[in-house]
Amino acid sequence: MGDALKGRVALVTGAVGGIGQVIASQMAKEGAALALHYLVEPDNVAADFLKGFTQEGYRAKLYKADLSKYEAVTAVVDTIIKDFGQIDILVNNAGITKDRTLKNMTPDEWEQVIAVDLSSVFYCTKAVINQMFARGYGRIISISSVVGEKGNVGQTNYAAAKAGIIGFTKSLALETAKKGITVNAVAPGFVKTAMTDKIPKEIIEKIVETIPVGRMAEPWEIARAVAFLADEKSSYVTGQVLSVNGGLYM
Ligand SMILES: NC(=O)c1ccc[n+]([C@@H]2O[C@H](COP(=O)([O-])OP(=O)(O)OC[C@H]3O[C@@H](n4cnc5c(N)ncnc54)[C@H](O)[C@@H]3O)[C@@H](O)[C@H]2O)c1
Repeated sequence: MGDALKGRVALVTGAVGGIGQVIASQMAKEGAALALHYLVEPDNVAADFLKGFTQEGYRAKLYKADLSKYEAVTAVVDTIIKDFGQIDILVNNAGITKDRTLKNMTPDEWEQVIAVDLSSVFYCTKAVINQMFARGYGRIISISSVVGEKGNVGQTNYAAAKAGIIGFTKSLALETAKKGITVNAVAPGFVKTAMTDKIPKEIIEKIVETIPVGRMAEPWEIARAVAFLADEKSSYVTGQVLSVNGGLYM
């Protein structure tokens, strides 16, 4: 247990799911207080996760919200700031897939993925940024994907959202560079979570053959990159995409 994030408050979106859960745990271990956002997981699963946190002596609270709606985001962020006083670190991790080739993709599948994976990043960041400007400190880290860097069959919606995060990150990094706020993205390759459990086994085997490291990532391997960017001492790293993909895309 370190103290790199001692005194900091972190909001992690999708914190009861695969990668988000491990990001949140890692940040708590480093001393941060945690606002744990969730949506799709059953309430009792979220409550059990929180219990694990509090039993370890970590300061944490759960917040349920649909981040694809701006009003829901502003309401939940207001509540978090009332509860914790501030948000120093925002991890935009929540995301979904609705895979289909463009030929068959419906406008609804396009819009849902853009709303949850990209618009939510704008909404959450917009809701936290003013208090970061006011205090002259912030760490904004958004989870992109190797798919946003290199494309993937059946994922035009997801790739557009994840590439959008990269453009958003670089632009906002310029707007905040002199204000003590860094803005970065982490682009994971294929990680073992519920999201990739949905991919048929034969396709996963084909994907793994193309990964130089020869396996999928474990969620903690992504969480390490997020923890690095969240650290106060990573103050000269901004506007970057940290790819954690086993060499899949260089
Ligand atoms: N698993 C991978 O291989 C992989 C690879 C690259 C990037 N990513 C990205 O990492 C992030 C986490 O993915 P994961 O694999 O842990 O997925 P996951 O499905 O395990 O978790 C996704 C989280 O998103 C939340 N969510 C879903 N709809 C939401 C909504 N409308 N509003 C708010 N939250 C919502 C869920 O509650 C869940 O906690 C995602 O952004 C994903 O795109 C995952």
